[in-house]
Amino acid sequence: MAILAQIQEILLSLVNPWQFMFLAASWFPGTVVRLVRDGNFGVLLSPSRLKEAWFSNFWDWFAPRLRLNAGVRVIPLLEGRTTGGRVVEEPAGPGIGGTIIEIGAGSGNWVDVFSDKPLGQQAAVGSSGAEMRETTTDTTTHRGGTEKTQKKKSSARKPITRVYGVEPNRDQHAALRRNIKAAGLEGVYEIVPVGIEHLDDPTRWDGRVEKGSVDCIVSVLCLCSIPEPRENLRELYGYLKKGGRWYVYEHVRRDEGWGMRAYQAFVNLFWPHFLGGCQLCRPTEQWLREAGPWEKIDVGHPQDEEWHHTLPHILGVFTK
Ligand SMILES: C[S@@+](CC[C@H](N)C(=O)[O-])C[C@H]1O[C@@H](n2cnc3c(N)ncnc32)[C@H](O)[C@@H]1O
Repeated sequence: MAILAQIQEILLSLVNPWQFMFLAASWFPGTVVRLVRDGNFGVLLSPSRLKEAWFSNFWDWFAPRLRLNAGVRVIPLLEGRTTGGRVVEEPAGPGIGGTIIEIGAGSGNWVDVFSDKPLGQQAAVGSSGAEMRETTTDTTTHRGGTEKTQKKKSSARKPITRVYGVEPNRDQHAALRRNIKAAGLEGVYEIVPVGIEHLDDPTRWDGRVEKGSVDCIVSVLCLCSIPEPRENLRELYGYLKKGGRWYVYEHVRRDEGWGMRAYQAFVNLFWPHFLGGCQLCRPTEQWLREAGPWEKIDVGHPQDEEWHHTLPHILGVFTK
């Protein structure tokens, strides 16, 4: 029986990316209908803009659902509570703070995490405010049901002064703006309406981010979508201050097991066409390691991801 259950789990896991592509595809007709209704024929006739509008529609709907699963990793990551790819109770290093670049902000799924509001409710320990205690709600599932418990957790967050949310897909900006407003971050969180490859190009957007001026870079499930990743990761490295940190939660190429590597490569023949150009087979950890000299790297694969997952992740922090 246990073997049958395991086979079923493996099969479901292998089918999962196809289900996800099907889900994304189901948003295509609605996108076309909306564009026709709005008389937006320019977008309809441009394959790249149509793909952006489609992805944006799908992601608006999907992002909060993603957060239900990924939030248990991303939020501790940004609070400094991960090590070796695992989430831990107490901070293993500093959390986000200061000036931040969020790459691929999308519809603003994580914007509220940049709000300092929860920090206001915390008692700062130490003059730098580096250690802050936070009350979070944990949901524990018992045989008899689900129970919410108030639990003290440490967070190593620091106050945030500025966030540059880099998002080239303008179709996502309305949702992103809504989330900025809801988080009370107007005036702190600025949308940078270009790809990271144009961050340094004054002809593309009005603002400017100085090289060597950024305390933290946050990348959540977006390095799979950027163009010329090796070159652009090196560029982004240049924006970090000495001691600055890059918080990363990304899906990456599978490196072990030829069968799953081949399967991942096969799925990737179709995947980018359904998911806004997202690539499954990028060795992002290696490219980040090569982006420049790091003082410390604390990154790993979450332990609960088994060998049959087509989208294995890396979770952790690179410190310059
Ligand atoms: C899978 S979505 C993730 C969005 C968000 N981080 C989240 O977790 O909900 C990837 C995002 O990367 C953005 N992206 C694509 N190319 C980019 C580029 N060149 N620079 C910055 N972001 C880019 C896409 O527009 C998209 O919003």
